[in-house]
Amino acid sequence: MNNKTKFPENFYWGGAISANQSEGAWNIGGKGPTVSDYQTAGSVKSPRSITYRDKDGKPGKARMLSMLPKGAKLAVLDDEYYPSHDGIDFYNRYKEDIAMFAEMGFKMLRLSITWSRIFPKGIEKEPNQEGLDFYKDVFLELKKHNIEPLVTMFHYDPPAYLVEELGGWSNRELIDLFDRYSKTILEEYKGIVKYWITFNELNTVTMLHKFIPNYPIEVLRNDYQSLHHQLVASARAVINAKRIDENYVVGCMMGSTASYPLTPNPKDVLENQRVGYEDLYYATDTMVRGEYPYFSQKIWDRYGVNLEILDQDLSDLKKGTVDMMTYSYYASGCATVNETAEKAVGNFTMGSKNPYLEYSEWGWSLDPDGLRIVLNDVYGRYQIPVMIVENGLGAHDKLEDNNVINDPYRIEYLKRHIEAMKDAISDGVDLIAYTSWGCIDLVSASTGEMKKRYGYIYVDKEDDGSGTMNRYKKQSFHWYKKVIESNGEVI
Ligand code: BG6
Repeated sequence: MNNKTKFPENFYWGGAISANQSEGAWNIGGKGPTVSDYQTAGSVKSPRSITYRDKDGKPGKARMLSMLPKGAKLAVLDDEYYPSHDGIDFYNRYKEDIAMFAEMGFKMLRLSITWSRIFPKGIEKEPNQEGLDFYKDVFLELKKHNIEPLVTMFHYDPPAYLVEELGGWSNRELIDLFDRYSKTILEEYKGIVKYWITFNELNTVTMLHKFIPNYPIEVLRNDYQSLHHQLVASARAVINAKRIDENYVVGCMMGSTASYPLTPNPKDVLENQRVGYEDLYYATDTMVRGEYPYFSQKIWDRYGVNLEILDQDLSDLKKGTVDMMTYSYYASGCATVNETAEKAVGNFTMGSKNPYLEYSEWGWSLDPDGLRIVLNDVYGRYQIPVMIVENGLGAHDKLEDNNVINDPYRIEYLKRHIEAMKDAISDGVDLIAYTSWGCIDLVSASTGEMKKRYGYIYVDKEDDGSGTMNRYKKQSFHWYKKVIESNGEVI
């Protein structure tokens, strides 16, 4: 009988950041540009852009994640601001930041390696030593403070060269290039890093069409092929990991897709199931079980997808199954066949509005029960350890006199989600880690803003890049320290 009502003794409490949202130093230390380095800042109302010069050299902007005009080349334009160029300057301030994480009692920090710091274009035969050294220093600094690194190999930041010259992940060649990259870092950090994530939110690759209006069907078909290449690349990274160090633990990572049927109408229930299969289990089943699930053909038929799958791909997928399931959870959505139902409006939100939930200013629902549901669903399906590697509330914070920041709304949000995790553990879920998102304020992925803040640590930087970059402890910093000290008993 299960009588677990507490977080396990060795539970990994911590936080999460990504390279392109925090490091800055975009062209320092031999790093090549990534696609993120051409993205401007936006807001909840106006999407971020990607900047380019067209075939005649004329500057232009396209909506982030959409196609550039034929012949256009990514370009940094003089009169634009690019938030990733200085990020929150983690590249130079990581010691100070890690010391603050240690003061909160972190047991784990999730962070990512930028591929183009190691292979600037992605195609080189030899790695960039300065990039390898930088991450080694960061990991050793974490170990010095008894913080376990959880390292994502790819967090939304492909080397720009690979996208421009090779067409990005739709090109099968990237599998081999990623193979070289994963081998290099797995060999380099052997004995220092134990936990790895291959790709961030891999399931979202085929979800873009839900966020971008008039998404061309051929592009969606191509997305399925790109996802296939990434699934194989991930499997190859797992195979490499096991060969290089049998103690490595490697996980897949998926984006929140918790969804309810909007009504008890069986058609809505079926629709909700379809969405869950398509947006989540299609990718996770493949990564955890080693083959595409039985319902895949139905999805391919729906969009007219005709995947190129080689025999070698099938055998890689079979061999390269992951050890753990990691997940981001922010909000839930609703599915319905009723096209006139009210939609949730915000950045990267989808589905219909849930009348039982409140929504943040950025249109994300507040739903801790959804986290418990997801944890049970995912663990029930795969029975492998689960980590929640992103969760948090993006909100405005006010820097008051004496550098005080009161953020009771964030504490309330996190508290309710920690309670939900505790409930899931008492349900029997093998949850081993919680790394809340943006433990230090960083650049928002969807809007490029600084003011959508998630951190326990305030970073003095504004949306236009102004500010001292000084760090200040928020009220939630002191609160989270107590949570960790009490292993989740005092919340
Ligand atoms: C996740 C991403 O989807 O959501 C992070 O993995 C991102 O990179 C996080 O920052 C929160 O989204 P946003 O748009 O508020 O930064």
